[in-house]
Order: sequence, then C-alpha cells, then structure tokens
Amino acid sequence: MAKASLKSRTAYVCAECGAEHNKWQGQCGECGAWNTLSEIVLESASAAPPAARRSGWAGKLETPKITALKDVRSSEEARVSTGIGEFDRVLGGGLVEGAVVLVGGDPGIGKSTLLLQAMAQMSQTLPSLYVTGEESLAQVAGRALRLGLPMDGLQALAETGIEKILDHAVAAQPKIIVADSVQTLWTESLTAAPGSVSQVRESAARLVRYAKETGTAVFLIGHVTKDGGIAGPRVLEHMVDAVLYFEGESGSRFRVLRAFKNRFGAVNELGVFAMGEKGLKEVPNPSAIFLSGGSTQQPGSCVMVTREGTRPLLVEVQALVDSSPLSNPRRVAVGLEQNRLAMLLAVLHRHGGIVTSDQDVFVNVVGGIRVQETAADLPVLLAVLSSLRDKPLAEKTIAFGEVGLSGEIRPIPNGEERLREAATHGFKRAIVAKGNAPKSGAFKAMEVIAVERLSDALEAASE
Ligand code: TYD
Ligand code: MG
Repeated sequence: MAKASLKSRTAYVCAECGAEHNKWQGQCGECGAWNTLSEIVLESASAAPPAARRSGWAGKLETPKITALKDVRSSEEARVSTGIGEFDRVLGGGLVEGAVVLVGGDPGIGKSTLLLQAMAQMSQTLPSLYVTGEESLAQVAGRALRLGLPMDGLQALAETGIEKILDHAVAAQPKIIVADSVQTLWTESLTAAPGSVSQVRESAARLVRYAKETGTAVFLIGHVTKDGGIAGPRVLEHMVDAVLYFEGESGSRFRVLRAFKNRFGAVNELGVFAMGEKGLKEVPNPSAIFLSGGSTQQPGSCVMVTREGTRPLLVEVQALVDSSPLSNPRRVAVGLEQNRLAMLLAVLHRHGGIVTSDQDVFVNVVGGIRVQETAADLPVLLAVLSSLRDKPLAEKTIAFGEVGLSGEIRPIPNGEERLREAATHGFKRAIVAKGNAPKSGAFKAMEVIAVERLSDALEAASE
C-alpha cells in the first residue's frame, strides 16, 4: 500500500451544504455561505478499519462483484410499520430495512418522545436498540413507564462513543437502532471535540455504513440550530436516506412531521400529531385543525386548500396591512416565501390597481405550518385585500390558484379533490382558476367562481 494512504487527510466541509474543500476559505465555493467551513479529518482506510473488519460480524469482507440487478433482493419489499400511522405515512408507508432516517427538530419539540413511542411498538416484533446520549437510562425508562409503553422487547444503551455503540450492536443484533442524538456521538479516531462537525459527520457515517452492511434500520435524531439547519451537519442530509423535520409552533400542541428528503416515498408528506399528557397522539384526519376556528369571518383572512404530500389540508392565510412609518415598508411572510410575497404585491399593484407601497404587509399561515405551493398566491392576495379594506371575505369562502406575472390566475394540480375537501368541511363558495372549476353542473356541493384574471378574482372577493 502506498505510504501516503496511511496518513489521515484533512478537508474542510461547509456546515450549510456539505461541500468539501481542500483548503480553508472564508466563503463556501458551492453555496456561497460565509464562515461555514470547518476542518474535518478524513481517516485513512488503515488507520481505523471499518466496523465489519474489526468486529467480524459480517464474516470476511468480500470483494464486490457485478450482479444482475434482477437477482438483487429489493429492500423496498421489506417495510415494517412503526405502529404509528402518521409516522408510516411520512416514511412513505413504513420503515424500509436498512434505511437511515434523520429526524430533525428544535429541542423540546418531541423527537425523543416520538421515537420512543415508535420503538416501543416496533420492539414487539423486531429487536430494537435505543441509544441515548442525552438522557439517562432512568429518564428514558421513566418516560416509557409514564406513557404506558410496552418495554419488554426494547433494549436501551446510554453511550456516546460510536465504537462502543457498534460493538454493542454487533453483539445484540438489533434490527432497528435509534441514536438520540447524533450531536452527542463521537469517534475515537478523531481528536475533534464531540459535537463538532467532523465528529458528528464521521460518527453518522459509521452508523450509515453499519446500517447498509447489516440491513439494520437507523434513526438519527438531530437538533436544529436557531438559524434553521440541523446543528452543524447539514452535511448529514446527503448521507441519509430520508430527512424528516418535526415542527410546531410554541404554544400549540400540534406537531407536524414533514419529509424533506425521502428515497422511499413522497417528499412534503405531512404527519400530524398532538402532544398531550400521554405523549404524542396521531391526528389521522388533520384537514381542518389549522383553521383559526373563529365563528365569524374576520378581515384579513382567507382559507385555502393546500395539498401537502398526498392529501388536502385546509389552512388559513392571514394578512395584516397597516400604514407604514418607514420609507421602505416591511414585507414579512411567516410560513410562506418572502420573495413570493413581494412579487405578489407587485402583481396586485400592476394588474389589480391596488397600492401597498406605503403599507407594512404581514402574512402568516395559521398553525405554524409552511405552505410551499403556488396555490397560496391567490389566497395571499385576497387576504391582503381584505385587510387593506378592513372587509372580511364572504362567509365560508375558500380560494386557491397561482398568480402569474401578467395577472393571470393559473390552475393548480388536483383542483377537484381540493374543492371536495372544502365542501366536506362546510365551505359554500370557492374562488379558483378557470382550469380548476368543474364542468358546469358537475359539482353541486358548493358555488365555484372560476376566474381567469386577478381583476376578476378581486371583483369576486369584493361581493
Ligand atoms: P422531547 O421528546 O424530550 O423533545 P426532544 O427530544 O425533541 O428535545 O419532548 C419534550 C417536551 O414534550 C417537553 O417539553 C414536555 C413535552 N411532553 C409532553 O407534553 N407530554 C409528554 O407525554 C411527554 C413525554 C413530553
Ligand atoms: Mg430529546
């Protein structure tokens, strides 16, 4: 073996995008972020042999050989239920054998609770190992007891050293491992402090390798930092099969689990939970929980039907338009994209003749959820108009549609399904793009006003 390969090599990874650079620089050459590069040590193959070779659980290492793809057993077949329907839905129909799933979220949002509940269920049928680096075993057991979870099949380990964890895994042969949290993991082969990007990355990489070699499913729990990324290791997103984010508004008991990346299912699939006395309860029919629930229609509010993943969801968009003391009035969007709001306000001016350039405009999606669809364009503008005029939309009205730069209202996918969902929840009137309106007479459940131009929509909303 060449002498150079015995030495460990260093590289600089960007905490934002995970790009690797040979030398340190102030700005990441890939994503342009500043001060995000940190040094990592890339171990050489001989410096630290892979777990397989060291522990011998996989027998002797075989040289990879070419195989006909049809002879390879597809791991897609082997899915197990987590015992929690909403969790399965976000995973794309259950947990895939050998999958590595990163579950991210703010501290205290309920990640440990969710995984403990799921593991307690899964351990009924499959040997499972819960590795805790944050809480003591007594704390984990105490929580399981309080939640009344079945504990007989579930093994737990309080350990943070990845080598020890893998040794235990080799001995106990679990089919599912939870590492809570990935930020506490560290490997002996690096000198960097636990929690540093290089430690987290290398420890996670070891677990990923172990998962792939043994077909063990691994959940990595990761805390999200204040500025939104999973602390340090955005780099992890590239290594794992699925990235799920657990989100929720402080003060609200509802929690949303969202697939951000998923090799085995649809992204943007939502699972909805409610945190209560007895842990997390799934909310299997969440379509109306994000409505503010007021009995009368308020100015500045418009209900829309978004389609997150594979099911429609009613959400309320609220706007507050208020005369601004600033020369450069504020445009604040919570749960929506800020730039899109600025663009929509320009369209409102140019094609609707409505000026907001001297107004602060705040837009919020109720319930702390994020809407990424362009279907929100029309409801945003109707909510803005309603707040500006201090006049509520007609009772029981919904709207959805994309607004184009030339003032046209464009249809969006699955229009009829959305209308049906709204009708089920008692909505009587819908303002939608012409292409989304059912053929005349085909839809009796509600009055559907088909609009082609923004001006038509504004007129319909003013009635
Ligand atoms: P936890 O799962 O520890 O969060 P994370 O692992 O994401 O940091 O959840 C902790 C919060 O959940 C804590 O604020 C208390 C609350 N909680 C309940 O309200 N009910 C419960 O049954 C449990 C277990 C936790
Ligand atoms: Mg936790």
